[in-house]
Amino acid sequence: MQTRTLGTQGLEVSALGLGCMGMSQSFGPRPPREEMITFLRAAVDRGVTLFDTAEVYGPFHNEELVGEALQPVRGDVVIATKFGFALDEDGKQTGVTSRPDHIRAAVDGSLRRLRTEAIDLLYQHRVDPDVPIEEVAGTVKELIEAGKVHHFGMSEAGVDTIRRAHAVQPVTALQSEYSLFWREPEEAILPALGELGIGFVPFSPLGRGFLTGQVTAATEFGEGDIRASLPRFEGEALQANLALVDLITTVADGKKATAGQVALAWLLAQKPWITPIPGTRRLERLDENLAAADLDLTPEDVAELDSASASVPVQGDRYPEAMQRMIDR
Ligand SMILES: NC(=O)c1ccc[n+]([C@@H]2O[C@H](COP(=O)([O-])OP(=O)(O)OC[C@H]3O[C@@H](n4cnc5c(N)ncnc54)[C@H](OP(=O)(O)O)[C@@H]3O)[C@@H](O)[C@H]2O)c1
Repeated sequence: MQTRTLGTQGLEVSALGLGCMGMSQSFGPRPPREEMITFLRAAVDRGVTLFDTAEVYGPFHNEELVGEALQPVRGDVVIATKFGFALDEDGKQTGVTSRPDHIRAAVDGSLRRLRTEAIDLLYQHRVDPDVPIEEVAGTVKELIEAGKVHHFGMSEAGVDTIRRAHAVQPVTALQSEYSLFWREPEEAILPALGELGIGFVPFSPLGRGFLTGQVTAATEFGEGDIRASLPRFEGEALQANLALVDLITTVADGKKATAGQVALAWLLAQKPWITPIPGTRRLERLDENLAAADLDLTPEDVAELDSASASVPVQGDRYPEAMQRMIDR
């Protein structure tokens, strides 16, 4: 597996990481724990070194799973986790919070569940408008100095916030949504990251499975599938958006690849400091996704995909309104 470097402090990771969220939530029932432990270790055997989790996934279940699975190979992998959501005693999300005392407590909890002495990459999951970002970055800086954290990351943060944070503690990576299904980061985010030397980790790089062709107008999302609540997967919006998948599939057919592979290769072709983290729980899909790192798109392929996406303006928001409001712009 090829590697890429995030940020200017030399965090080296596999060109494609593994998103672990779906092993605990968002895409229906949890698969059996032992199965996922075997699966995570199979990903390591295949050369994946970047594993993405968060305190809030489960909550807690995902960090515990990742911690147990990766304990035997801890020194060989990079574990990224996130703080920043407030949870009530039942584990229900009650909003965002990045108060310094909350960050410190969250990190201690993550270290315990991940069975590790240090978190390789610690993201603020969402910007907290009530806590100045300098205070957040300063708290993470102290945690880095204490040896509990190695690198600082942010998620769905806007350019101004990133610049202010970066001035206090260099940011190694931004993790925000980016794919042929959501290209807004190209406007202001990617130029700023390039200027500052910050790596980019696109989440939902397969558009939550949409770009693989897995979703059709007839798909009925099961219980616990987040896509049932996302406007871009609803009715007429979904119907209109499916035209994009048809166009990507045409390019994929010409490359003897799958639509999902083309979607991932397109992301890798954007910048050498981009490392997508597709999520899956199935070995054959993991193999399919990882093979995208070896799929070379020509400049003509990339141009064809660019014009395909320009011809299908995506309908419907990424998130329901309450979650949409948590995004910092
Ligand atoms: N920072 C944030 O706020 C944030 C938000 C969302 C996600 N994330 C992170 O990003 C990771 C990836 O995002 P995501 O899971 O939302 O979306 P994604 O990676 O774009 O898509 C995942 C979906 O695609 C399916 N899939 C994966 N590979 C496939 C293939 N080759 N063929 C057909 N279907 C395939 C998966 O199903 P199966 O699992 O059944 O294969 C799952 O339903 C997450 O795991 C999480 O770590 C971060």
